[in-house]
Amino acid sequence: MRQFIVEGLDGAVAVANVDGEFFAFEDCCTHGAASLSEDGELAGHTVECGWHRGQFDIRTGAVVASPCTVDLRTYKIDVREGRLHISF
Ligand code: FES
Repeated sequence: MRQFIVEGLDGAVAVANVDGEFFAFEDCCTHGAASLSEDGELAGHTVECGWHRGQFDIRTGAVVASPCTVDLRTYKIDVREGRLHISF
């Protein structure tokens, strides 16, 4: 996972590469202020927050494990001419 700052968006975006497929989501846990790209761990399509072990599905942003109760915002991402494009 890697963090990006996207012009026009409040907060950072995390981009994950899962077997060559890219996923983009807000880089701030909905339970606290943890950066998921910096403090979290990715296992398949699940990101686990490093602070209290809450988990999200990065494909949909859905909460997978508590203590998180609010889904993560996700963004459409695609690769064009070798560059990542995030839509919001
Ligand atoms: S800050 Fe992420 S689970 Fe608490």
